Amino acid sequence: MFQIVKKKILNPSVTLMEFDAPLIAAKVKAGQFVIFRVDEQGERVPLTVADSNPEKGTITLIFQIVGRSTKKLNALEEGDSIPDLVGPLGLPTELPEHAEKICVIGGGVGCAIAYPQAKAFYQSGLHVDVIAGFRSKEIVILEKEFQKNCDELILCTDDGSYGMKGFVTNALQERIQQGHQYDVVVAIGPIPMMKFVCELTKKYQIPTIVSLDPIMVDGTGMCGGCRVTVGGKIRYACVEGPDFDGHQVDFDELMHRNTTFREREAECRMMAIADRL
Ligand SMILES: Cc1cc2nc3c(=O)[nH]c(=O)nc-3n(C[C@H](O)[C@H](O)[C@H](O)COP(=O)(O)OP(=O)(O)OC[C@H]3O[C@@H](n4cnc5c(N)ncnc54)[C@H](O)[C@@H]3O)c2cc1C
Ligand code: FES
Repeated sequence: MFQIVKKKILNPSVTLMEFDAPLIAAKVKAGQFVIFRVDEQGERVPLTVADSNPEKGTITLIFQIVGRSTKKLNALEEGDSIPDLVGPLGLPTELPEHAEKICVIGGGVGCAIAYPQAKAFYQSGLHVDVIAGFRSKEIVILEKEFQKNCDELILCTDDGSYGMKGFVTNALQERIQQGHQYDVVVAIGPIPMMKFVCELTKKYQIPTIVSLDPIMVDGTGMCGGCRVTVGGKIRYACVEGPDFDGHQVDFDELMHRNTTFREREAECRMMAIADRL
C-alpha cells in the first residue's frame, strides 16, 4: 500500500499529493511517470512524478481532476492509501548535448510535468527560462516553485488577469524577437498548445522536445494503446517516450486517438457523480 503523506489543493481542479514510495523515489528522474490504481477495481492511470525526495522516500504527483479515477483519488485524504503505484516508467528527459540555454514551456496542468524538468535542468547548471501559461489568475499553479528553479519566469494568462496577456506562443515569439537564443525548447501541455509551439519553433529552427500523453494501459510496451507516429514511424510512448522530437510528431493523429474512449469516459464521470449521491 502507498500512503498519502501530504495533500494540498493547488486550485479548484488541481491537487498535489505526496506519497510514501521509497523505491520509486530512489530511482525516478525528471520526465518519468508512474501508473496508479485508486482501488482494486480501478483503471490504470499514468501521472508524471512532479517531485521526489529520496531521503524522505516520497514522490509528489500533481493531477487535474478530469474524470472518475482522478475524482476518486482526490477524495482521499492524508493517511489514506492506494493499492498500486508502479514506476518509474518511461525514459528520463534528455537534452541535446550542446544545449546551454533552454526555454521550458508549460500549459495549465502541463506545468506539473514541466516543473521537474525545469528544476533538473536548472540544478544541473543550465540557463533556464520558463514560460507558464494559464487560462486565468485563479488557476495559476507552481509559481513560487518555478521562481526558485529558473533564471526567468514569464507567466501569461489568456484573459490577462495575471502576468502577460496572451498565449505561451505569444510570449515565446516575443522572447525570440527580443534576441533570446534558445538551444532547445521543451513544451508540455494540451496537444494543440504543443502543436502550435512546434510550428513556431520549426520556423526559427529551434529543436523542440514535447512530452506526449496518449492513452496508456499497461505502461510497459505490451498493449499498443500509447502508439504515436513520430517521423512517420510508430513509437510507443510508454517505453520510448513520453518525450519526443516535437517537429516529428503527428499531433492530429494523437488528438484523434485520445478521443477514442470519450463516450465511455463520460459514462464513468456520471458513475463517479452517482457514487457520491
Ligand atoms: C505519461 C503521462 C503522464 C501524465 N501526467 C499527468 C500529470 O502529471 N498530471 C495530470 O493531471 N495528468 C497527467 N496525465 C493525464 C492523466 O493520465 C489523465 O488525466 C487521467 O488518466 C484521467 O483519468 P480519469 O479517469 O480521471 O478521467 P477520464 O474521464 O477517464 O479521462 C479524461 C481524459 O484523460 C485522458 N485519459 C484517460 N485515461 C487515460 C489513460 N489511461 N492514459 C492516458 N490518458 C488518459 C484522456 O485524454 C481523457 O479524455 C498524464 C498522461 C500520460 C500518458
Ligand atoms: S501503454 Fe501499452 S504499449 Fe504503451
